[in-house]
Formats: sequence, structure tokens, C-alpha cells
Amino acid sequence: MTGTALERLTLARIVPVVEITDVARGVELAHCLSAAGLPVAEVTLRTPAALEAIQAIHAEVPGFLVGAGTLLTPAQVEDAVEAGAHFGVSPGFTPALSAAASGADLPFVPGAISPTEILAAVELGHTHLKFFPAEQSGGVAVISAFAAPFAAIGIRFMPTGGVRLSNLDSYLALSTVFAIGGTWIAPRDQIAEGRFDEITQSARAAVATVAAFGA
Ligand code: 3PG
Repeated sequence: MTGTALERLTLARIVPVVEITDVARGVELAHCLSAAGLPVAEVTLRTPAALEAIQAIHAEVPGFLVGAGTLLTPAQVEDAVEAGAHFGVSPGFTPALSAAASGADLPFVPGAISPTEILAAVELGHTHLKFFPAEQSGGVAVISAFAAPFAAIGIRFMPTGGVRLSNLDSYLALSTVFAIGGTWIAPRDQIAEGRFDEITQSARAAVATVAAFGA
């Protein structure tokens, strides 16, 4: 993945991973995150409303970086591009997914949690990888160990899965981590119930934690 979307993900450092069940709530969420200083989200394709939400956020919330997550098939990559996603994320990696993303010119962050998976992704030109599920896969210790063989060739990770405000610091401290994803900022229930005060509070706390690291 290259270009502006990657630079903006790196700049944001935190990527709220969200499940949208109602398009209007999705647009409200994007406004809420923008106002809290975090104008980015990975909208997972796990709900019927997800693609329409991406489309609406793209159209109605200027400056917001909206990605499509949980991309499992090449067809979903095409759907995400059609909806206007600025970037795509997958929990895993396959050559077919990679080809679909590069064919559609979609900045793409595939998932990899082992040296073999990392090398398979590297062979197809990927350098920025999702490390999922982060905590369950060894978290900070494993990402740190990967620095020895992989940092020099530019591999960078977006740990996601089990990250919360309480352990965010430990991931921010890793030089091979370009961004950190998670649902803790905007959990599905809080979005669906319009609990945007709580989401604002979580987003601001994450932004403040990043700022404390001088990012
Ligand atoms: C994802 O799809 O990236 C994960 O569901 C995020 O995991 P989390 O809920 O532990 O943040």
C-alpha cells in the first residue's frame, strides 16, 4: 500500500474498527470521530449496511478517511472500491485478494502473523500489514521479535485485536508499528445507540495518548 491513504493512516496512528448497522449512524459517527481529532475508520463488511455507510461517509463527510475492513474475497474488494473506500484491510492474505486490490488501485493492508505469511505478502509488494489478532498472537513480544528480520526491508504492522486504551502505550512504543486498530473506541452498541459522548471520550483519550508519544 502506498500513497496518501497510507500516509494518513500513519499520521492518524489509531484506526477505529467499526460495525455499522444503520447508515445515518455511520455518518454521525464519522462526524463525531472527526470532531474528536480522529478522522479515520475501518468500516467492517460484517453488516448489511456497511457498503452503503462507506458510500455515505465518503460523500458526506469531507476529509474523512474511510476504509473497508474484513475484506475476505476479491468480490468484496471490488464492492469496497465501488462504494468509495479510500483503503482496504483484510484479516489475512491471499494472492487473489492482493491482485483484486492492486487491480483496482486500492491501498490495501492485508493480514499476516507469521514469517511465512509476511514473506508471501512481501513477494506481492506489500509492506504494511495488519497483525491480527494482535494480543492473542503474541502482541508486543512477537512484533518486537519481527523487527530483527523484517524492519530493514520496511515491513510495518497495524496490530489489531485486543488493543485497548490500557495497553495502547505498549504498541505505540514499537517503531515497526505504523498504526493501531481496534473496536474499543467505537463499539457496535455505542454506535447503534447513538452514544457519541462515550465515543468522543474514547477517541480523545486515544488521540491524547498518541500525542504523549510525540507522534
Ligand atoms: C478486527 O476486525 O480488526 C477486530 O475485530 C478488532 O478486534 P478488537 O475488537 O479486539 O479491537
